[in-house]
Amino acid sequence: MTKLIWDRGQKGRRGYVPSVSQTPQVNLENLLGKEYREEDLDLPEVSELDVVRHFTSLAHKNYSVDANFYPLGSCTMKYNPKVNEEIARFPEFLEAHPLCEEAIQGSLELMYKAQDLLARISGMSAVTLQPLAGAHGEFTGLMLIKAYHRDKLEDRDEVIVPDSAHGTNPASANMCGFKVIEVKSKDGLVDIEELRKVVSNKTAALMLTNPNTLGLFEKDILEIEKIVHDAGGLLYYDGANLNALLGKVRPGDMGFDVMHFNLHKTFSTPHGGGGPGSGAVAVNDILKPYLPIPITIKEDDTYKLDYNRPKSIGKVATFYGSFGVVLKAYSYMITLGKHGLKEASELAVLNANYLKALLKDVLDVPYNNGVMHEFVASAKNTKLTALEIAKALLDYGYHAPTIYFPLIVPEALMIEPTETESPETLEDFADVVKEILANPEKSKVLPQKTPVKRVDEVHAARHLVLTRKDLI
Ligand SMILES: Cc1ncc(COP(=O)(O)O)c(C=O)c1O
Repeated sequence: MTKLIWDRGQKGRRGYVPSVSQTPQVNLENLLGKEYREEDLDLPEVSELDVVRHFTSLAHKNYSVDANFYPLGSCTMKYNPKVNEEIARFPEFLEAHPLCEEAIQGSLELMYKAQDLLARISGMSAVTLQPLAGAHGEFTGLMLIKAYHRDKLEDRDEVIVPDSAHGTNPASANMCGFKVIEVKSKDGLVDIEELRKVVSNKTAALMLTNPNTLGLFEKDILEIEKIVHDAGGLLYYDGANLNALLGKVRPGDMGFDVMHFNLHKTFSTPHGGGGPGSGAVAVNDILKPYLPIPITIKEDDTYKLDYNRPKSIGKVATFYGSFGVVLKAYSYMITLGKHGLKEASELAVLNANYLKALLKDVLDVPYNNGVMHEFVASAKNTKLTALEIAKALLDYGYHAPTIYFPLIVPEALMIEPTETESPETLEDFADVVKEILANPEKSKVLPQKTPVKRVDEVHAARHLVLTRKDLI
């Protein structure tokens, strides 16, 4: 077995060391002072090549959309143009000091224009770029709703959430101090009669994502809007699935009062990469006074940060949010333009429907009527569980789809191919799924080729090993 880097050390082995006169000498002993250590540091002394190989092999163990197809439903793991990463690293933006309002006119202009574009794309009247993730956007939006009702002296403490909702929706409502009321679905869509039963003068809002997590468009949205508004509640749009609708329909036109975007996901920043995100929030006129401070405004030819907003809920993030993510989103929006964004959504929907069709003989899709950017298949009628299919896919070099969510589909496999994949990739993936399903006995023991093979999940959860040495 290949030795780990920890076991390859030999006293005195090292990489290229510049002469002492050029650089300060790095002394292992000085890395972490003795007073902070309980034991001696057990660091291997290894050659430069060993270190390079160690980190390169770790990098190869990472899975990413740059490596292969990543059909993680609801998470929109699409390819993000590298040019936007380059732009986000321009020193003019990177080195700007956030407090020098006069010296960062370019950055403020960009934020102002990004607010404007997002407002136009969503059909809303104002935008804050502060929230740092989708869930943070939900929390911010709900705080705006709370401030609005409080201002009207209305005591509304319930938020209605469909049973197909993303888990962050009820979690955000709960964190914001609301009671979560679940509304049942019928044929995968909000059951209108059930909704009528749960709305009341306690309803603060209904949270909805459209298309919903089954990839279905809530076609009764205008009726839903009327029911909630007639009861005095507001409508929150979870914009995480906006990549299905860009340039086609606007949440503002559907009657939503507030929404968040997942700028990471829809507009060019990877989701779930451990890096920053942006859950920018857009509102209609009635919620505008409560937006977090500051908002970027333009007076004559100068861009300013407006703090003078007496009804504001305050700040929800440091400075102005994830500026780099907003920058990438802005670059993406203007590069694609109005038609390009619309085409991106059309391709996302086309790809999901193509993949669904490729798999139709081997996997059921219980809610099948009018699937948009993603679909939820069920492994119930196969000889494998959703977990076994997901694990087997890893051995073929694919990231697994989201499984066991939404809960209303038994043995759910939630598949979102995204717009950036080619038909050939989708065909290869479908062939692999078919091969897995055709060989259930063989597939059940996979993966065997991954760095960590098929794990005993119960054992893994009960006996966590968190030391780096043992994991690699
Ligand atoms: C439908 C939906 N809502 C909300 C979120 C939460 O977004 P975030 O992960 O940025 O908090 C997601 C994330 O994928 C989502 O798919």
